[in-house]
Formats: sequence, C-alpha cells, structure tokens
Amino acid sequence: MISMKKLSILSHLAVTAALAFAGSVVQADEIKGNAAAGNAKVWLCVGCHSIPDYRADYPFVYKVPMLGGQNAAYIATALASYKKGERKHPTMRSIAASLSDQDMADIGEYYAAQTASSPNNPLK
Ligand code: HEC
Repeated sequence: MISMKKLSILSHLAVTAALAFAGSVVQADEIKGNAAAGNAKVWLCVGCHSIPDYRADYPFVYKVPMLGGQNAAYIATALASYKKGERKHPTMRSIAASLSDQDMADIGEYYAAQTASSPNNPLK
C-alpha cells in the first residue's frame, strides 16, 4: 500500500521531471537577444566604446570600434570569437570570457538599436 506521503513525493518528482523536460526544450531553441536586457549588461563596455574617438591601450594606437548601430549578429559573433580566442585583443578576450551566449545576444540587440552618434564618426 502506498502512503499519501509517498504519493505526494511521486507526483512532485513527476512535475520536476516535466519541468526539466520543458527547460531542455526551451534551451534547444535558438538564443534570442533582448535589447532591454542588454541595456543592463553594457555598463562594462561604455567606458571604452562610448567615448568618441577614444583610443585604448596607450601607447599602442588602438581605435575603439563604434558599436552603436552595428548589426546584432555581428556583435554577438565578434564577442564569441574573442571568448574562443579567434580574436586576440587581450582586454576584449577577458571581457568576453565573462559573457554567456545569452549576454552576447542581448548586448548585440542593445547596440543594434543604438545609432553611431559620435561627432567624430568618420562615416558621417
Ligand atoms: C578597455 C576598453 C574596452 C572595454 C571595457 C570594452 N571594449 Fe570592446 N573593444 C575594445 C577595443 C580596443 C577593441 C578593438 C579590438 C581589436 O582590434 O580586436 C574592441 C572591440 C570590440 C568588438 C569588435 C568590434 C568590431 O567592429 O569588430 C566588440 C563587438 C566589442 N568590443 C564589444 C564590447 C562589449 C560588448 C563590451 C562590454 C561587455 C566591451 N567591448 C568592452 C575596447 C574595449
């Protein structure tokens, strides 16, 4: 005879298993970036990427690329390349290492929704 307590544990296990299954289905979906979520993740980036014409890594003359208005997938792919080491810039590598795929997608969407408003933008 199964007691009520055992029954409730069994049904709890069934719910947990169902949730775990639902979770794995969601994870299998392609990751979708969210600009609002990205907004909360770029505090680390603005110090370099939002300063017009700023050059980092003195004395090497490195022009920090503009990200505002850039394609979301391009940004996410660039960040993944730094994380994997395919792109070599040491600062960007250590920054990208701390980002998840979801972070990269969110940040990509955030910057894609911005504009390259720098007065020094050579494309203007
Ligand atoms: C200390 C300064 C600094 C910080 C902080 C920084 N970056 Fe960068 N970033 C650079 C420099 C310099 C480059 C160019 C590196 C190169 O030549 O590969 C770069 C390159 C990039 C690129 C490639 C752009 C392109 O046109 O190919 C992306 C994307 C990027 N950064 C995103 C970010 C994001 C997102 C953050 C915050 C999570 C961030 N960066 C923080 C300095 C910085």
